Amino acid sequence: MTKPTPIKVDMEKLVSLCQRRGFIFPGSEIYGGLSSCWDYGPLGVELKRNIKQAWWRAVVQERDDIVGLDASILMHPQTWEASGHLKGFTDPLVECKSCHLRWRVDDLAGDSCPSCGGELTEPRLFNLMFKTFMGPIEDEASVVYLRPETAQGMFVNFENVLDTTRKRLPFGMAQIGKAFRNEITTGNFIFRSREFEQMEIEFFVKPGSDKEWFDYWLEERFNWYVKLGIKKENLKLRQHMKHELAHYAKACYDIDYLFPMGWAELEGIANRGDFDLVQHAKYSGKSLDYFDEETKEHIIPYIIEPSAGVDRSALAFLCDAYDEELAGGELRVLLHLHPILAPIKVAILPLSRREKLVALAKQIHADLRQCWMVDYDDAQSIGRRYRRQDEIGTPFCLTVDFQSLEDEQVTIRERDTMNQIRLPIAELRRTLQAKLEGEDFFVLPPGGRIWKEGESV
Ligand code: GAP
Repeated sequence: MTKPTPIKVDMEKLVSLCQRRGFIFPGSEIYGGLSSCWDYGPLGVELKRNIKQAWWRAVVQERDDIVGLDASILMHPQTWEASGHLKGFTDPLVECKSCHLRWRVDDLAGDSCPSCGGELTEPRLFNLMFKTFMGPIEDEASVVYLRPETAQGMFVNFENVLDTTRKRLPFGMAQIGKAFRNEITTGNFIFRSREFEQMEIEFFVKPGSDKEWFDYWLEERFNWYVKLGIKKENLKLRQHMKHELAHYAKACYDIDYLFPMGWAELEGIANRGDFDLVQHAKYSGKSLDYFDEETKEHIIPYIIEPSAGVDRSALAFLCDAYDEELAGGELRVLLHLHPILAPIKVAILPLSRREKLVALAKQIHADLRQCWMVDYDDAQSIGRRYRRQDEIGTPFCLTVDFQSLEDEQVTIRERDTMNQIRLPIAELRRTLQAKLEGEDFFVLPPGGRIWKEGESV
């Protein structure tokens, strides 16, 4: 494997940028925050939407064999008996007899409390599911759980989707949604929180073809991150040891990313065998088998599950994109975000606030925002405005100057190289679209030319 690319950001710096620029804020901050809950600000919400859209496009829109689903977060409590979460979704914890802090046994180095040195209790199992009550009466019969994974919504809809879409094996379902876990060890910013979003595929295959599909999805999902800009050398596949396998898994690999705190799981890909359909058939009393037209046999499909986290992906994309360099003797902080992921695609920067210039700049703004998220900024020097856009990963800045009023041309600056071109306003939409799709920056539209900083028009 090639050596990982050194990451130029530590978690503290990234948290600070995210907060300062409106990507991510601590949840309920005015009340002192709520442990491990995060709020996505104006830029963060765009980044997350772009990640989810890119995933949906790759796994649903561009495929014939996967359909989408949006199941309810609250599910029948028997779901969690059948899935094994009521029994098996637990962490062994010990409690300090003095300060009452709880610790995961596998996080402890010694046999006393890491916080106060106090004596610890024997380990007890704690379930990680959040409980609540459905209806007005708060008793055992009305307990429901916030789903700890989106997967179960897809298993319980297997027959519905099969009947309504008339899909044949192999086929899959894809779902994006919130999941909740009462995690004991949280931290590392949005890496592990108690409320997060998952992007999961449940891919149903004929038993016997599961190994082949498992390998297919490992490659497919690994490449998805690379296509969206993550450096290959900062990703690796890690096979789960037998003792690490979840109760449902026959085999599992993690796609690990080299986060600032070290290698850690970004996405898990599991071969769940027939565990889920067998369990739900048993607990619901409904048959969840599949009639194989070729062999004329009823079979229980196996499931291959690529399960990714939206928040962890956002963290990985931000870490990998972060860069610092010296430009003109000044520190330039920039995010090399892939244009598909960048929250703002184009920033319109009029060189002055004079009325005529502003009118033209606003007209361009109104036109381009029909296509993309476009920012308009007329505050402070042009250099500062460029820096602000670099720091949030905006791929293109567009300056409107006095000459624009006469020649109907504007200048575009590319984020990573700071190269500039000048082109007719009439060519903007088409040119920007092509550049956002990866066209070389110096491929010029009719009437366009390469522009040198400081050049007079
Ligand atoms: N259905 C399988 C499943 O949920 P998982 O490995 O527990 O598997 C899948 O979770 C993905 O969900 C992880 O790879 C991670 O990206 C994300 N994830 C899990 N727990 C998380 C947490 N507490 N905070 C943020 N993301 C989490």
